[in-house]
Parts: sequence; structure tokens; C-alpha cells
Amino acid sequence: MSESVIEVRNLSKVYRDFWGRPKVRALNSLSLDVKKGEIFGLLGPNGSGKTTTLKLLLGLLFPTEGQVRILGRPAEDVEKNERIGYLPEESYLYRFLNADETLDFYGRLFKMSSAERRQRRDDLIKLVKLEHARKRQLKEYSKGMTRRIGLAQALINDPELVLLDEPTSGLDPLGTRDMKDMILELRDRGKTVVMCSHLLADVQDVCDRIAILFRGELKVLGSVQELLEAKDETQIMTSHLSEEAKREVEEVLKKHGATVKSVSHPTATLEDLFLRTVAESESRPGRRFEPGERPSTENA
Ligand SMILES: Nc1ncnc2c1ncn2[C@@H]1O[C@H](COP(=O)(O)OP(=O)(O)O)[C@@H](O)[C@H]1O
Ligand SMILES: [Mg+2]
Repeated sequence: MSESVIEVRNLSKVYRDFWGRPKVRALNSLSLDVKKGEIFGLLGPNGSGKTTTLKLLLGLLFPTEGQVRILGRPAEDVEKNERIGYLPEESYLYRFLNADETLDFYGRLFKMSSAERRQRRDDLIKLVKLEHARKRQLKEYSKGMTRRIGLAQALINDPELVLLDEPTSGLDPLGTRDMKDMILELRDRGKTVVMCSHLLADVQDVCDRIAILFRGELKVLGSVQELLEAKDETQIMTSHLSEEAKREVEEVLKKHGATVKSVSHPTATLEDLFLRTVAESESRPGRRFEPGERPSTENA
């Protein structure tokens, strides 16, 4: 068993109203572990308790019941937060600072030297691809750019563990793909990532393991691969299969008692098509695709 970075045991949270009366049971007896170096996805519809869970991990909220250990410390120990990066659902950044100034400001909060701050700032601006906009005030930023600078800010202290609340919310497909690639890059750099989202495709693409929450309760927990694999079915993909060969293959399969359920051409995802269309259009402006024709750029 690899090392657990987060251990959650029977965690519950009841929000109370102004008079202290129980109002909403946002989380009910949640138990799960997050392993070092994995990308863990918390999935669930709006209001299922994802943000509440992240805030409990950070010690920003007190649990009603249960325990959390995170990086070997209890959640209420705020010193551990120096080793954690957090991207909230909405980043509150200073609108009149530019990207460089923003990262410099947060670097100071972590008492980094000026040389260290400059190095870190340049690394992060490059990671989140904001080189072209680093001198513009954040008030001029689009939603996608704001999400990028928010991520850079969350990473300023080179955290071991990164908590991302709806990292792709409000992003277009290009921004979404970039954000997913950045998350994968973080894992390649040895970080542990916990992200929550209600967008299923995003989670499926990047997460190693997921938990599905519904009304504060854990419904499903496991590796994405295992949860989605249909173990009693097999897919064989070939190119240039002639009609004759197809008939022969079907004969062989029948002989072995297998049922051919479908023989078809694979479809790409809409994301795939969209990204390739944009990449192709950038390299050849003014071109329009006919129905049935697919843009061919490989590495969109
Ligand atoms: N500060 C709060 N006071 C009262 N209820 C809250 C508060 N924050 C969240 N809730 C409620 O707790 C439930 C879970 O919310 P949340 O954790 O934000 O869900 P998610 O992030 O999955 O959308 C919802 O019913 C929400 O209305
Ligand atoms: Mg939320």
C-alpha cells in the first residue's frame, strides 16, 4: 500500500442557521484515503458536499463529527496549509495588480527571497501560459485567464498537495484541455492532486481514482479504469479490414462461442474534433470543413 496523504474518517458536517439550529447536513459520514502522487476526483452534482469536503480538509470549517489527517497532521493544524495549494471555486485576487505583481505579492506572504520570487513567478507564468498577459491588470482578464492566474497563485509555495475546486468551471474547450494538461503536469512533478467537479468528462480524463458524492454521502469509490471497464466485453481495433476478412473473423469468433455485438467505425469525442478543428484553423485560416470531412491535425 502506498502512503496516504489524506485520511478522512466518518466525516460529517451540519451547517447551522443563525439561531444555531441544524439546517443542512452537507456531509454524512465520509471515509476515504488519498494516496501520494495520485489525482483524486470528487465528483457529484451541485450541492453534494464537494466544496464542504475541501474546506474541512483545509481546516477552514470545523467538522460536526469525524476526523481528517492530512500530510500527517490533523486538519485544524493550520501550519500544514503551507504545504498545500488551494484553488477555490472563485479566486479573490487584486484586480489592479498584473500577473507578475500578483505572484510577487503571494511570494512575499510566504517570505520568499526576491530571487526566489522572481524564479518561481517565471516558472508559474510559463506553466499556466500567461506569458503574453503578465503585465496586464487582472481586471482585464477573461474567465479562462483568471482561472490560470488563480492556479499559479495556488502553486506559489510549491505545495506537495494541491486542492482544486471546479478547476475547469467556465473554461472553453481549449482552456479546459490546458487546465487538464496542467493538472497532469503537476502529477508528473510528483504532486498529489484532489480536484472536485461536476463535469464528468474532465474527471474521467485526468483522475486516477474518484469518489462520487450524492447529497453528502459517498456512493462510489474506486479507480476510474476499474469502474468503467466492461470486463466481459472485448474491443478489437484494426485498420483496412476488408469485407472478406471481416466475414472470416466473424466465423472464427463464432466458432469459439463469442457473440459479435457490433462492428463499427470508432467515433472520436467532440472535444477531440473541436480541438483539432481549432488547431487546423489556426494553421490554415479561412478554411471551412465540409460535412463528413474531419480536420487532420495530429497533435491538437
Ligand atoms: N455556509 C453554508 N451555510 C449553510 N449551508 C451551506 C453552506 N455552504 C454550503 N451549504 C449547503 O451544503 C450543501 C453542500 O454544499 P457544497 O459543499 O457547496 O456542495 P458542492 O460543492 O458539491 O456543490 C448544499 O446543500 C449547500 O446549500
Ligand atoms: Mg462546490
